[in-house]
Parts: sequence; structure tokens; C-alpha cells
Amino acid sequence: MDTEPRNKQLGDLDPARIPAHVGIIMDGNGRWAQARGLSRSAGHRAGTENLRRVLQAAGEYGVRILTLYAFSTENWTRPRPEVLALMVLARTALAREIDELDRRGVQIRIIGRREALDATLRQALAAAEERTRANRALTVNIALNYGGRADIVDAVRALIASGVRPEDVDEEAIGRHLSTEGQPDPDLIIRTAGEMRLSNFLLWQAAYAEFYATPILWPDFGPEDLYQALLAYQARRRRFGGLDKPA
Ligand code: FPP
Repeated sequence: MDTEPRNKQLGDLDPARIPAHVGIIMDGNGRWAQARGLSRSAGHRAGTENLRRVLQAAGEYGVRILTLYAFSTENWTRPRPEVLALMVLARTALAREIDELDRRGVQIRIIGRREALDATLRQALAAAEERTRANRALTVNIALNYGGRADIVDAVRALIASGVRPEDVDEEAIGRHLSTEGQPDPDLIIRTAGEMRLSNFLLWQAAYAEFYATPILWPDFGPEDLYQALLAYQARRRRFGGLDKPA
């Protein structure tokens, strides 16, 4: 039943211009919880549950890659119980959803410095990646202990370790060593909860991404809101530093 309005709306989107890669900065879980007198961890739980419907809608709208900012390299500075709650949520949500994700053809890829995550979580992440490696319906990059600057630092380290000559270091070579290697750059980055910044998300890859901010808090951000973001994206003119072509 609930797919009916979605399908009707789909008529307004140009299927040929759906952004292939969408990044989401899922902000506002804390404010969502505070407004209800709940703990911040309860907000993160609601935010995690919200992922199911957004993932499904993204696939239905034709998005190929979704990158979700789940935990940044800066998030370690939060109170320890909150950090722990986020880690436990990531592990339990993955355990609960992996069968369904796999059945729907979702490929899971983890981006971020996973060495710093605890061993149980690392194992669960590796198993999910391995199990869904051949899936092609939708790729979901989960950014965990991710930072855009760390991503670039790691790429530079890998390049140096490979013994590359300075004159062979170019944008393409750096791109090949980033965590998103093999994927197109994001076309659209959505940030919920009103803030207007990238917060160290996909810094290199976002060079020409369209940015869409909405005041809606992440646990309330649903399929209709994703639809609005895609509509707004389709109304933009992307020039990639060039000029509009004459009509
Ligand atoms: C920002 O809200 C949100 C986060 C720091 C974590 C986002 C994580 C999830 C939605 C769930 C975990 C992900 C997976 C893949 C299981 P905030 O706490 O900064 O909110 P506030 O700005 O209102 O305080």
C-alpha cells in the first residue's frame, strides 16, 4: 500500500537524471530525542530504524550508490556511553537487517578506518561485505570512523608505499586509492537537521556534488523527503566549472 503515493510521485522525476551516487549526513538524532524527552541513544536508535525506509526508497527511485555518514573520526569525542551506543547499534542493526539487505541485492561496503573499531564489529562488517559483494541492486557505503581528510591521508600513504613517482601522482591516482575507489563521485549530498556544512564528509569526492540541506531531523526524514531532495537536484544546473551550453 505504502508504495502507491511513491509511484505516483515518481512520475515527476526524470528517470534519466537520478543522481547515481547520493551521500547523506544523517544529523539531528539528538535533537529529535531531546524534543521527546528521550536519551540521545534513543535518538540514534530511531535514526537507525529510519534507514530501512530510506534505503528502500533510494533503491526504488533508481539511486545506485548511497553513502551514509554513520560515525565520523571526530565522533569519538562524544561521551563514552553515546559512542558505545552507536557502535552497538551498528552491530545489532547489521545483524538484524543483513538477510533482508542481501535478499534485496544490496551490496554493503564499509568506508573509514576500521582498525579502530572493536573486533566483534569489525568481523560483522567484514562478513557483511563478503556476503553481499556480488549484489548489484544498490550499493550502501557505511562511513564508520570516517573522515574526508583521513581518507585523503590514507590514499597518499598508500600511493607513497606503492613507490609511485611524483610526476605520476595525479587526481586519478589519488581517486584510485580513496575508500570509494571504483565508484563515481557523489552527485548529491543531503544533510538533515539544518546545518550547512560538510563536516569532513567525502571532502575529495564532493568537489562537484550538489548540496541539499533540509531542517528535517534525520529520524523524520522519509521517502517523501528524499523525493524532494531528488527533485531539487534535478532543478539544478551542473556546470562543473564550465559555462552553460547555449540553448
Ligand atoms: C547525528 O546526530 C548523527 C550521528 C552522529 C550518528 C548517525 C548514525 C545513525 C543514524 C545510526 C548508526 C548507523 C548505522 C549504519 C547503524 P546528532 O547526534 O549529532 O544529533 P544532534 O545534532 O541533534 O545532537
